[in-house]
Amino acid sequence: MMNRSISMHINGRPVSMRVDVRQSLLEVLRENGYTSVKEGCGSGECGACTVLLDEVPLDACLYLAVWADGRRIRTVEGESKDGQLSAVQQAYLDTGAVQCGFCTPGLIMTSTAFIEKHKGKNDVTREEIRRAHAGNLCRCTGYEGIIQAVEKCLKDEAADADRVQADSCVCDITSQEEEN
Ligand code: FES
Ligand code: FES
Repeated sequence: MMNRSISMHINGRPVSMRVDVRQSLLEVLRENGYTSVKEGCGSGECGACTVLLDEVPLDACLYLAVWADGRRIRTVEGESKDGQLSAVQQAYLDTGAVQCGFCTPGLIMTSTAFIEKHKGKNDVTREEIRRAHAGNLCRCTGYEGIIQAVEKCLKDEAADADRVQADSCVCDITSQEEEN
């Protein structure tokens, strides 16, 4: 057995540990308390183990922990802040996208990456949302609530972007009037 020391940022915090070079990132995360990362198939089929590696969704069961040395990892444990659910987590609850919950942490990470990548866009199609989530299987929900949750977040993000733009226009007009 060969061990190696690795360092990562997990949910924004620096973490160092010794790992067996044969261990997957999934095993190491779960051993270190990140149990939101689920083991379903263990072979890259179900997406239950999805985490973000440098903001990109990844099946942690197929990735060796030593490869994550020096990288940034995000799991569901880091998504809520000060006891407040993230917008994506809240949207999943609001649309009934959570039933047994086994697939939910992985799906939330996939949705989070997708929404952050498409922030402010209001022309994202259902087909694009479906395709982005194709690697995450859910036995319970039929996917409709999941898609609705993503649509809701994208709509809210676009409305926020419009509001910020409108506010900055008002500020511009006001400052021009003051100058005159
Ligand atoms: Fe990793 Fe299924 S447990 S894809
Ligand atoms: Fe049960 Fe998705 S909510 S597998």
